[in-house]
Amino acid sequence: MATMEGLIGLMNRIQRACTTLGDHGGGGADVPTLWESLPTIAVVGGQSSGKSSVLESIVGTDFLPRGSGIVTRRPLVLQLHQIDKGAQEYAEFLHLPKTRFSDFALVRQEIADETDRMTGRTKQISTVPIHLSIYSPKVVNLTLIDLPGLTKVAVEGQPESVVHDIENMVRSYVEKPNCIILAISPANQDIATSDAIKLSKEVDPTGERTFGVLTKLDLMDKGTNALDVLEGRAYRLQYPWVGIVNRSQADINRKVDMIAAREKEMEYFENSPDYAHLTSRMGSVYLAKLLSQHLEAVIKARIPSITSLINKTVDELESELDTIGRAVAADPGAQLYTILELCRAFDRVFKEHLDGGRSGGDK
Ligand code: GDP
Ligand code: NA
Ligand code: MG
Repeated sequence: MATMEGLIGLMNRIQRACTTLGDHGGGGADVPTLWESLPTIAVVGGQSSGKSSVLESIVGTDFLPRGSGIVTRRPLVLQLHQIDKGAQEYAEFLHLPKTRFSDFALVRQEIADETDRMTGRTKQISTVPIHLSIYSPKVVNLTLIDLPGLTKVAVEGQPESVVHDIENMVRSYVEKPNCIILAISPANQDIATSDAIKLSKEVDPTGERTFGVLTKLDLMDKGTNALDVLEGRAYRLQYPWVGIVNRSQADINRKVDMIAAREKEMEYFENSPDYAHLTSRMGSVYLAKLLSQHLEAVIKARIPSITSLINKTVDELESELDTIGRAVAADPGAQLYTILELCRAFDRVFKEHLDGGRSGGDK
């Protein structure tokens, strides 16, 4: 259904507008803010388990700092916007609103620089997120959150509190009921010790919003395999586990590109005596597809509650806008106006969506 695409895209824009406004969609302590009610996807896992690598392959573009050690030191809120086939892909940071990046090596550099601006060139972690939007024909419309890895001990340059600080920060993202969790565990470590599983089980005990991702299948000891996990015997989740082979550090150093990496990943599964029979539901392309299907289902199920929330928000914003005065073209007013327009557009798409459903337009 064509309107569904529009709907997800619109929600991405509303989410961005809410962020810019510092979240005006709220309604008291127990009422979720507009921002909180929209689905997002976050990666959770131990340090160097492959979180940034998995996110990058879902996006299909090289742009995230990755590597051994503590590379991701601030949350990255990443909005993907699908644009027309053939259009030039580009990226934009919220902290640099007038700059369009078409060179993704510079995007990676800016993430690293902006991280350092907040934390210095240390191993310190900051809870202040970086907001990045990517516009590309190759992506599906999603909001993804890259997070620093969970650790067990503080390292040099970090305060003793860092272990709990990181855990609390990660929890603050994944405890929200709208957050879909990518629980990343490396296959070369015992699943029973997985930080990702431990935290996701705590915030999502029924597993209705947790996807298990098993990375580093290629790094397992010879003679062992991960079939117990991938076939759901070792740790059963509501959704089947997805196995992944990301680029190794040597691949990163040799600048192996995304397309080559994906081909290599699929070859790995096809040629593996252990996993060949699972090939059709393994790999990063499959994971991306699975996630967008799930997201669509979640949005469809939530449409009535989101609409009532938005209607309420429109009323709130309208009175706020009246107070400010429509004639004043000051920034806050203009931003409020933008979000009002987005809410109205959302309403239109929603109605189209319902009409389409009634006239049997579901193709
Ligand atoms: P993060 O710290 O969880 O974000 O992990 P990164 O994505 O930064 O990856 C950490 C290191 O592990 C990098 O050197 C990656 O190349 C490597 N790595 C991640 N996933 C895999 C994998 O599936 N196979 C192999 N061989 N290396 C991987
Ligand atoms: Na890392
Ligand atoms: Mg990372």
